[in-house]
Amino acid sequence: MSKILVTSALPYINGVPHLGHMVGCLLPSDIYARFMRMMENEVLYIAGTDEHGTTSEVGALKAGMSIEEYCDMYHQKHAQTYKDFRLSFDCFGRTSSEENKEATYHIFEQLDKNGYIEERTIKQVYSIDDKMFLADRYITGTCPYCGYDKARGDQCENCTKVLEPTDLKDARSSISGSKNLEVRETKHLFLNLPKLQKELEAWVKTKEPFWPDVAYTIAQKWLKEGLQERCITRDLKWGFPVNKPGYEDKVFYVWFDAPIGYIGITKQWEAQNKAERNWKDWWMNPDEVRHVEFMGKDNVPYHSITFPATLLGTKENWTQVDFLKGFSYLTYEGGKFSKSENRGIFAEDAVKEFDADYWRYWLIANAPESSDSAFTWDLFAGAVNKDLNGVLGNFVSRVLKMTSSKLGNIVPEGGENIEVDNQLIATIREKTDNYIKYMELMEFRKAMAELRAIWVEGNNYISVTEPWAVIKTDEQRAKVILRNCINLIRIFAILSAPIMPNVAQKMLDKLGQKLISLKNFGIEKEMTALKGGESFEVGDMLFERISDDKLNELKEKYGSAK
Ligand code: 2FM
Ligand code: ZN
Repeated sequence: MSKILVTSALPYINGVPHLGHMVGCLLPSDIYARFMRMMENEVLYIAGTDEHGTTSEVGALKAGMSIEEYCDMYHQKHAQTYKDFRLSFDCFGRTSSEENKEATYHIFEQLDKNGYIEERTIKQVYSIDDKMFLADRYITGTCPYCGYDKARGDQCENCTKVLEPTDLKDARSSISGSKNLEVRETKHLFLNLPKLQKELEAWVKTKEPFWPDVAYTIAQKWLKEGLQERCITRDLKWGFPVNKPGYEDKVFYVWFDAPIGYIGITKQWEAQNKAERNWKDWWMNPDEVRHVEFMGKDNVPYHSITFPATLLGTKENWTQVDFLKGFSYLTYEGGKFSKSENRGIFAEDAVKEFDADYWRYWLIANAPESSDSAFTWDLFAGAVNKDLNGVLGNFVSRVLKMTSSKLGNIVPEGGENIEVDNQLIATIREKTDNYIKYMELMEFRKAMAELRAIWVEGNNYISVTEPWAVIKTDEQRAKVILRNCINLIRIFAILSAPIMPNVAQKMLDKLGQKLISLKNFGIEKEMTALKGGESFEVGDMLFERISDDKLNELKEKYGSAK
């Protein structure tokens, strides 16, 4: 059994997550965590809310709440939504926790002690109308590299370049839109990344055979361009006050303490059951732990360069990222998700419309793995009606209803497999091996194509073998076919469990079966798990079709491409 640490990028606390957030890190990390648990690994799966920074200060101000109340409220909202989506975190924590403060202070002290922290006087943008320094995200302007006119002061989301706010052309306050900005001098602390470049290069090199292209290429590009010093403090109120004399009135930059949040949240997890848990088993154990991170591609530089360098600079034996799975973006009906423009379906509403498993299936089958992918209501309804209801749901109900009406609610006994049955087993074996291989590799779209193909095989088998006709002349043969089909239902449930945990459970409940580990999954063995004589229930349909009326209603309610 290996130890696998699974982390999802920590969603910003402000606002509610939409389907793009869900598919870009949270859902795939959950599917991977569930799958790896089923493969009998020891998994620790953590995430949490990323709470510091100007965005939260501004959000609280607008909501007329204290920052603490504001973060408490949104943390609950996030936690509830992820629970509704069946994300199986071992701990869903917060970057503002005492545990994270402790971790952040420790890491900073080590960096400072080792000579990687520099004091610099910098010029920073001050908004006269907003009466505050406008850090990073709160300055909008034109990217000096690609010309994108809505680049943010911390990063251009178009070309992914990390920026300093003063790099932007035609800068304006994102809070008030005011261009009444001036540059003032202020003292800050910088992380000396150039001093860590060599060590980091050597470390990245060790990852080459394992990292997916997108992560490795981004890291290489950064290293080739040469690392720059990064400012890690800010003139804000909300954040961890800097633990260095002369800097007490400043806080750490949100991007300094956010990745450390993974460690802080693991400490929170330990605190929940101190006797049995030790955060160091996970974070100071690089030889035994494999750390897999899920994130949107804009996060890749922070997790392939800045955070690993931060940890290297401590000269301590930290667990570093072993595999970095980056995602592109999901579009909504041909455009962007936007709460303010009422475009797009947000996660908390999505689960009110359809059970989370519908979404989990669609999102992972269409994950933006190598390029952006598009959500449209037509595509969603098409997949629900065809794949879920048509292929999987119908197979289950057809098999169980037919068996029940012709032979009773007992798995039929007796008889032997013939050639066509053996062919089915061979095909399912091949596709199952592929499915497991792709899930291990986190190639989710390919894995889902195999899973869908496995369901289709069930339908093909029943069409070819025609048990409804055979039963009139050869009841024993029909019994073999239907028993094979019932065993397929159990297999479909087990394989689908990381994706659709509730649907899988419902399928197993119909058969009075339990979820098993995938580690020793062997198709011959599983095809005879139900030998005959076990009772089953037909129960309800697994999925509901989406009618044209319902589809139009959804488009109207959430917006659609005209
Ligand atoms: O891009 C984001 O949503 C950030 N809040 C991710 C932070 S991940 C952290 F752990 F570094
Ligand atoms: Zn750009």
